[in-house]
Amino acid sequence: MKSIFALLTLLISLQSSLAGIPDKIYGVNLGSWLVLEAWMLPQGWLDMGGQQCNDCSQCIATEFAFAQAYPKTVDEIFDKHWSTWFTQDDVNQLKSLGINTVRIPLGYWIVEALVDRKTEFFPRGGIRQLIRGLKQLRDAGIAAILDHHALPGVQTPGQMFTGRCTSDVEFYTEANYHRALVWTAGMTALTHLDPDFSSVFAIEAVNEPIMDASQTPNYGDFQKNFVKVVRAVELTLGIPVPGVQLDMKVQTKNFTSALTSVASTSTSDIFNAEVKSALLASVPILVELGFELSIGSIFSFNLATANSQREPLVTNFMDINWQHNNPANPANAAIGPQGYDNHLYYSFGGVADPNPEAYLTSICNLNRVQNDAALGNSPLWFGEWGLPTQFSATDDFLNKWADAQKLAYSQGRGWIFWNFKTEISDLAGDLSRQWSYFDGVKRGYLTKDPSQVHDPHVCDSYRANATAT
Ligand SMILES: *[C@@H]1O[C@H](CO)[C@@H](O)[C@H](O)[C@H]1NC(C)=O
Ligand SMILES: *[C@@H]1O[C@H](CO)[C@@H](O)[C@H](O)[C@H]1NC(C)=O
Repeated sequence: MKSIFALLTLLISLQSSLAGIPDKIYGVNLGSWLVLEAWMLPQGWLDMGGQQCNDCSQCIATEFAFAQAYPKTVDEIFDKHWSTWFTQDDVNQLKSLGINTVRIPLGYWIVEALVDRKTEFFPRGGIRQLIRGLKQLRDAGIAAILDHHALPGVQTPGQMFTGRCTSDVEFYTEANYHRALVWTAGMTALTHLDPDFSSVFAIEAVNEPIMDASQTPNYGDFQKNFVKVVRAVELTLGIPVPGVQLDMKVQTKNFTSALTSVASTSTSDIFNAEVKSALLASVPILVELGFELSIGSIFSFNLATANSQREPLVTNFMDINWQHNNPANPANAAIGPQGYDNHLYYSFGGVADPNPEAYLTSICNLNRVQNDAALGNSPLWFGEWGLPTQFSATDDFLNKWADAQKLAYSQGRGWIFWNFKTEISDLAGDLSRQWSYFDGVKRGYLTKDPSQVHDPHVCDSYRANATAT
């Protein structure tokens, strides 16, 4: 009797602790898992059949180039990568280190029907691995952000993280915004309908768009449609969304037919023509996924009873200050809970002079949380950061560098380190020392308890003295 009670309490507390944003995010990215970035596993990439070159558009340096070069074996080779790069052992280690959140970079190609196979080349089968990993994370009580990291058409030139290195950036077009919205409808539906996704609390619209907003036309409209698609799926499911209601009754328990009828007949503001068209395009994809992955709940969702208790997802964008040149403010897109993401790397230049004093002075006086809050971009978390430097850093400096960054980012909602791990090999050399969370903890730069620092006063002598204004 007592143990049944204990179990019930545990289940209830597990459920509620996973709803919404963790009070303070102590997180890591699951980078190079479902979007592989060859630089993070240089030997593994060569062993798979990849190549290394200075200009990543000129050799087999990305998933796209790999799948194009090896159409017959790509799925099998990537399946092996997916099942070995992120494992139950990794989940156990994250849990033992007190990590409460992971950000999971995903490509648009994880929704396989979105890939135009005549001109686009990507491995298939990632969705099963995503579900496998989400189950393991859920069982460990670790919350997850689904991060649309690599967008259809490529959102940033010359980067492995978009899945294809190219200067031909086509994301900021009607056709590719549309595909990203179909992706969003599918991921939102899966999140609410498949219990394997129950640790997911947020979906991030676009990882690292081009920083110059004059090169991202209509991105503000896309942001609004992104939120509307998420909320439209939720309203159809009977999930309450603050401030909006569905103007009709859903008659069927078959989710895909419910979505079809709502998208065809609702006259609510949320359902503009583009949102409707994205929802309708997601229907056959969801039907297929439902059969293929045996997600029966797609065809028999528990209307009203269970869903009226569910929380809407947190819609998540890079913060307004990620872009310059008069960017759209993602805060203007919000309907219901929303969160903001900023990334900060000192090693690529442009932030502080390349020396330890300048780095600490900069991070100890960081005012990004306050600047974003002034524009409505709260809560803010730092979804990518690490320990890399433009100079050779001592162990003593890296202790301070880790502390000072954690303190700065914890002024917001918290932080998500890039990356949970990197390859350890002769070819990788020192890569893991400043890029791997696991290695950083092992070497002592990152404290075993992520909420702690070695020295809470690390910033005292670097802080600009408060002026009386
Ligand atoms: C649910 O509806 C879809 C059409 O949206 C249909 O293809 C599917 O067969 C239906 N499934 C069940 C189990 O009724
Ligand atoms: C702030 O003032 C203290 C004490 O006057 C001094 O030790 C410290 O160096 C000053 N900090 C900066 C960044 O100027």
